[in-house]
Parts: sequence; structure tokens; C-alpha cells
Amino acid sequence: MAISEKLKKIFDKDSKKIKKCLFPAAGYGTRFLPATKAMPKEMLPIVNKPLIQYGVEEALEAGITNMAIVTGRGKRAIEDHFDISYELENQIKGTSKESLLSDIRAVINRCVFTYTRQIEMKGLGHAVLTGKPLIGEEPFAVILADDLCFNENSAVLKQMIEIYEQYGVCVVAVQEVNPEDVSKYGVIKGEEVDDRIYKVDYMVEKPSKEEAPSNLAVIGRYILIPEIFSILETLPPGKNGEIQLTDALLKLAEEGKVLAYKFKGKRFDCGSVSGFVEATNFFFERITN
Ligand code: UTP
Repeated sequence: MAISEKLKKIFDKDSKKIKKCLFPAAGYGTRFLPATKAMPKEMLPIVNKPLIQYGVEEALEAGITNMAIVTGRGKRAIEDHFDISYELENQIKGTSKESLLSDIRAVINRCVFTYTRQIEMKGLGHAVLTGKPLIGEEPFAVILADDLCFNENSAVLKQMIEIYEQYGVCVVAVQEVNPEDVSKYGVIKGEEVDDRIYKVDYMVEKPSKEEAPSNLAVIGRYILIPEIFSILETLPPGKNGEIQLTDALLKLAEEGKVLAYKFKGKRFDCGSVSGFVEATNFFFERITN
């Protein structure tokens, strides 16, 4: 029997539907200063749509309607964006500009948004743990909105949920990166068990080029099982003194509960200025052609 078949057999009984998507959005966005001094990084627009709206639309495309957002100080614009603006809407009612709000209105109508604040920015793992009261004891998706993903036919999160529904364990999205860039990411080591799917047995946060076990880097899309919370609760700070999601995932990987998926599609690192410009050009081309 192929390894992937064996894994499916073990994992099937724990499978549950993914109903919620967590958006850790409390980070300072220091790479984008001064733009992010008073404005959330997640509200930076790619053409005319803020990054976080792309993320929410991707989750919707994957069948999720419950959006749980971890915010922080200075991030109130995110809540306002996913709310009605009566004055503005009244002002443009009946004009040609009304259509510019149709996408966001559709998002607001279809989704439920919940929020919590991360008081101290202690890292991505800590931000995920902060979201626990919004998620509860169920498997969930995570989108880092500054990683903008695009696939015209099937959203990256949708592809990942399809894998989760077969195996019932954590799924992290990976892409091959230039060996010079591995130190910017969590990097995995694993055995390919099916087309594009790896059973992870080791992962490390921001390794040097020499330490990196591969060039398969984790990007900002995850499907997590609720066990991640109890691990995060007792996890000591890791790289850069932050509570690292990678370290928590490593513990689950050691129990055979993490798969990596080399997703189909494009990904733009919009947390960096160059990735942001690349995404802007790409989406502008799409809109104007
Ligand atoms: P990043 O390290 O990319 O974001 O975190 P950052 O800290 O905002 O950006 P730079 O590096 O200073 O430019 C990845 C994701 O995790 C969230 C961020 O908002 C981002 O979506 N995050 C990070 C939190 O929500 N809380 C944290 O304490 C750290």
C-alpha cells in the first residue's frame, strides 16, 4: 500500500470540516515603515483593494464564511473596512461610483467577522494562540494577508482544504525558494508521499543557508488542528525571542501530524516592498487587460 494511502487511513477518523479562518494581523509591519506607522500593513492596497480583503475573498472561495481576525493597537481600520459606512454609501448612492463598493459589500453580506486583540506582539505563534477564543476546539485555516496568493481556477486555501479533508492533519503551504532566501522562512524536511504532498518530519524557523534542511519554505497559509493551542500554551520563545508557530508545528510533525503542500499558483510577499510592487503590477495588468 502506498504511504499516502496508509496516512489517509490513520487520519480519516479525525477529519472535521474547516469553518473558520484566522487572520493574524497584529504585527508591526516594520519592513514597510513609514507607511505602516499609523496604518495597518494589512490595509495597504494592491491596486484598489486592501491586502486583507484579498485574503478574506480567498477564504470565502474555499467555502469559509467565519473570519477571525487578531488585531492590535492601530489596527482599527481593518474593523471599519469590514463594516458598512452609511454616510459614504449614502453619498455615492445612484452614482457610477456605487459599483466600486459592490465587492466589499458582497464580502460583508456573506461573512461573519470576529476580532480579538493581541496586547503584546510576541510572534506569530502567540498571535495564533491569542485567536483561540475565536476558534475553539476545531480545525481551522490561517491566512497571513501579507502573503498574497493567486490561482485563477482554485484558490490556494481551497487546494489545502481538499488535502486536509483527505488526511485530517495540519497542512502547511510551501514553495521552493532560492537557497539564498531560506533564512526569511520556516523551512521543512519531508518525504514526498503524493504529488506535491510531503510528510514533514522536521522544520526550522529562519535557518541559515547551511542549516536549512531543504529549500521548501513555508508561506502564509496553514490548516491547523486544535492540538496546536495546547502546544503553543507551553512553548518557550524561539528564534528572535518570539513564540514561533514553526516550533509548535515541529512537535506535531514529530507525531506525524503535519503535511506540506507545494501549492499551485502564484504567491507575492507583500510584506516586502519588492513583492508588493510585483503584486501591484500583476493585478494591475489583470484588471486592465
Ligand atoms: P511578519 O513578521 O511577516 O509581520 O509576521 P510583521 O512583524 O508585521 O512585519 P515586519 O517583519 O515587521 O515587517 C507574519 C504575520 O504574523 C502577524 C503579522 O501581522 C503578519 O501577518 N503577527 C506577527 C502577529 O499578528 N503578531 C505578532 O506578534 C507577530
